[in-house]
Order: sequence, then structure tokens, then C-alpha cells
Amino acid sequence: MRWEKPDGTGYVWQKKISSFDEKSALGVRAAAMAHDGEVIGVGTGSSSYVGLLRLADRIKTEGISVTVIPAATEIRLACAALGIPFCPLSALKPDWCFDGADEIGSNGDVLKGRGGGLFMEKLIIASCEKRYLLAGKEKFVERVGAKPLPVEVFPESLKYVESALKSLGASEIVLRAASGKDGPAVTEHGNLLYDCRFEKIEDGLEREIKSIPGVIESGLFQHYGFEFICLED
Ligand code: A5P
Repeated sequence: MRWEKPDGTGYVWQKKISSFDEKSALGVRAAAMAHDGEVIGVGTGSSSYVGLLRLADRIKTEGISVTVIPAATEIRLACAALGIPFCPLSALKPDWCFDGADEIGSNGDVLKGRGGGLFMEKLIIASCEKRYLLAGKEKFVERVGAKPLPVEVFPESLKYVESALKSLGASEIVLRAASGKDGPAVTEHGNLLYDCRFEKIEDGLEREIKSIPGVIESGLFQHYGFEFICLED
């Protein structure tokens, strides 16, 4: 027995997607890399979502069979709506993954987590040997850090983590507010998010943040060897 309408009408991205055509063109390139039988990790954010739409196009038109490991609820709902088989990361190792980014530095540092999905994103990315980021030109910067660096924190440890982040050089630490409810934004894992500013993001900062008891994960990615899916000028 199936739910009614497993035809793509059951879930749509709930905000306006900026630069949709560009993201769609990047998604076409990501989808073109899929091979029959592969397990593909899909991150969160609008670029990942649009990439998933283009993957669904290939599944429909070419009949390829893939399984997706979604990094967040909205991507899981989209898979269900599009009729794409999906499973948790605990069930299958992804062959490769694609995701979006907030900032990509010239030294390879990447900042993610604007949408709050950084913990699962990092788990999926770490599980793959091949990691692709869909990246419009505006994502490339000299150094990451103009945007805040998100840190997912176990709620009971908020004050401790705040002081430890200050010791690491955070000059501004803001508890992220929810937009659809009162109070703080709560992650899919029941945790809270600090958005932090550092004067300079040094090599090794990801490791130092992660070593603070109470920190679940940060949105800083250092030395992950990402490959970028971009459009030519
Ligand atoms: C979600 O938490 C993020 O890591 C996204 O992958 C990142 O913010 C990029 O999002 P867009 O693809 O919507 O720009």
C-alpha cells in the first residue's frame, strides 16, 4: 500500500530559492555523475534540494536506480515526494555526496550550517571519499568568516561552551533564534546553535572547537578535499 500522490507534489521547498536557474544548472552536473546502483549522500540547503530535483529527473527519464542518504528532514521528505529510495547513514555507506556551502575560502576552508543541518552534513561528508559542493560564484571568498560560524551545542552545556569559544578567540557569540517559533532554534537532534565570529579563522580551529565538551559539531570544514561543481563564466 502506498501513500497517495508519490509524484513530486507532496513536498516543495518552503522558501523562495534564490538563483534557481543557476542552482538547477549545477544540479544537472551533479546528477549527471550518478551511476546505476549508487548510494548518494545529499546535504541540506537549497542547492542540495535543487540537485535532488535534477537527480529525480534522471531517475525518471533514464530509469537509473539510486539510493539517497538525506542529511535532513526536508531532503528526506523531498525524496519521499519524488519517489526516490532513501535510507539512513547507519544502513549504507554513501559512494559519494553533494551539498551546498555558505563560504569557500581560497585555502580550501569551507563554512556551512546556515540552515542548521551541519551535524548530519558533516557525518555524511566524512563518510565519503568523494565530496562535491555545488557552488555559485558568490560562495568563493578569500578567507571564510565574513558569515558567522555555526556551532551545534548540547543545551545543558551552553554557558560552558560559550566561555570555551571565547577562549578560542570568538569575538561575538549569538544564540540562534527560531523563525517559526518563540525561543531558540532547536536542531533536528534537540540541540541549540551558536553563531560565532572570529577575527581570523586559523588552521586547526575546527579541531579545537570540536574538542570542547558539549560541542556536537561546527560548520567549519578544514582539509576535506572537496571538489567543486561550478559553472563557467
Ligand atoms: C545548511 O545548514 C547549509 O550547510 C547549506 O548547505 C548551506 O547553507 C548552503 O545553502 P544554500 O544551498 O541554500 O545556499
